[in-house]
Amino acid sequence: MKEIKALNKKMYKKFNQEKKRNNVPESEYVTEMRNPQNIVEFDNLKTYFYTDQGTVKAVDGVTFEIPMGKTIGIVGESGCGKSVTSLSLMRLLQGPQGQISGGEIRYNRDEQPVDIAKVPVKLMQKIRGNEISMIFQEPMTSLNPVFTIGDQLSEILKLHNPDMDKKDMEERVIELLRLVGIVRDGISDSYPHELSGGMKQRVVIAMALACNPRLIIADEPTTALDVTIQAQILDLLRNLKDKINASIMLITHDLGVVAEMADYVVVMYAGRVVEQGTAQDIFHNPAHPYTVGLMKSRPVLNEEIGRLYSIPGNVPNPINMPSHCYFKNRCEKGVEKICGGEYPPMIDLSETHKVACYRCNEAVQEGGEADGN
Ligand SMILES: Nc1ncnc2c1ncn2[C@@H]1O[C@H](COP(=O)(O)OP(=O)(O)OP(=O)(O)O)[C@@H](O)[C@H]1O
Ligand SMILES: [Mg+2]
Repeated sequence: MKEIKALNKKMYKKFNQEKKRNNVPESEYVTEMRNPQNIVEFDNLKTYFYTDQGTVKAVDGVTFEIPMGKTIGIVGESGCGKSVTSLSLMRLLQGPQGQISGGEIRYNRDEQPVDIAKVPVKLMQKIRGNEISMIFQEPMTSLNPVFTIGDQLSEILKLHNPDMDKKDMEERVIELLRLVGIVRDGISDSYPHELSGGMKQRVVIAMALACNPRLIIADEPTTALDVTIQAQILDLLRNLKDKINASIMLITHDLGVVAEMADYVVVMYAGRVVEQGTAQDIFHNPAHPYTVGLMKSRPVLNEEIGRLYSIPGNVPNPINMPSHCYFKNRCEKGVEKICGGEYPPMIDLSETHKVACYRCNEAVQEGGEADGN
């Protein structure tokens, strides 16, 4: 414990010094996109929490990209690092424990692509909210109960456009409320408690849209809502995306939502990407045994099943991850000889479809038998 604390202290100091540096030369954070059609490219991102119990490798080498104007769905069970990935992109990790410890997050800015992991705090403040914004899960915790929603929306506008005059601001507030479909007389003078759950979530979406972001991160945007409102909010997001030509990074537990909304899907498991591809690839040809399990565990209309499938076992402890495939102990297709070795590399199944599993590769080549390990 003492050792861990001393090590953490050293790390905090190092990260703090980095953060406090003034006049960081541009050459340190300006970068090149691998594909200029992408808005964001995560490249081997590692986000760790240096806690007293040890280092939690919440995100451990995540690589995927978000193409411009597309919706990408991130799925995976609770605790697999979905929120931490998005918070890394916003640089909103809980400090000093939470830190980006390696890898790059290339963001295709208008002027020049930059590496979000290295940009100075001042520039990040310009990007956050203005260019990349986030819709949080709980509308009630994102809104301040003692200010009217009009005040809260104007505050954001003022922060990002200090020169805007009062009249323009009022007009923009109404425009935003109209955009999310809740404009009515005097609505901007309402307090959050005077609105329904769905209306509050719409206000939160309006706040995220206030500065015409190029990328919207939606972390479980509909979890707190009932099914009818959920459908309305998803429709709204889809329409807005086309209207302002933004990209969406949609994080959710709900595979139905992903199937409806996403162009591309990334499946995460224990801090790593295990499979990625177009929505078609993932829903029609899931390859990784974990994705296959996820697909089996969702209810399907017009099909009678006695009991829904549940994946046996638990996610391994994030502090001491094994060196072999993290899913090995829960996997029905596992073969000790192969799966007990190094963590499997990402292999290409097609131009768009990638999977990190030895057995997928093998099944294609040899069709080997499982021994249940
Ligand atoms: N502030 C923190 N300190 C220590 N560990 C953290 C912290 N925040 C997150 N973690 C750990 O990081 C891992 C990933 O968490 P994350 O919130 O990204 O999960 P998630 O995939 O978003 O799950 P959910 O679907 O439940 O929202 C978890 O093991 C969690 O315990
Ligand atoms: Mg989360």
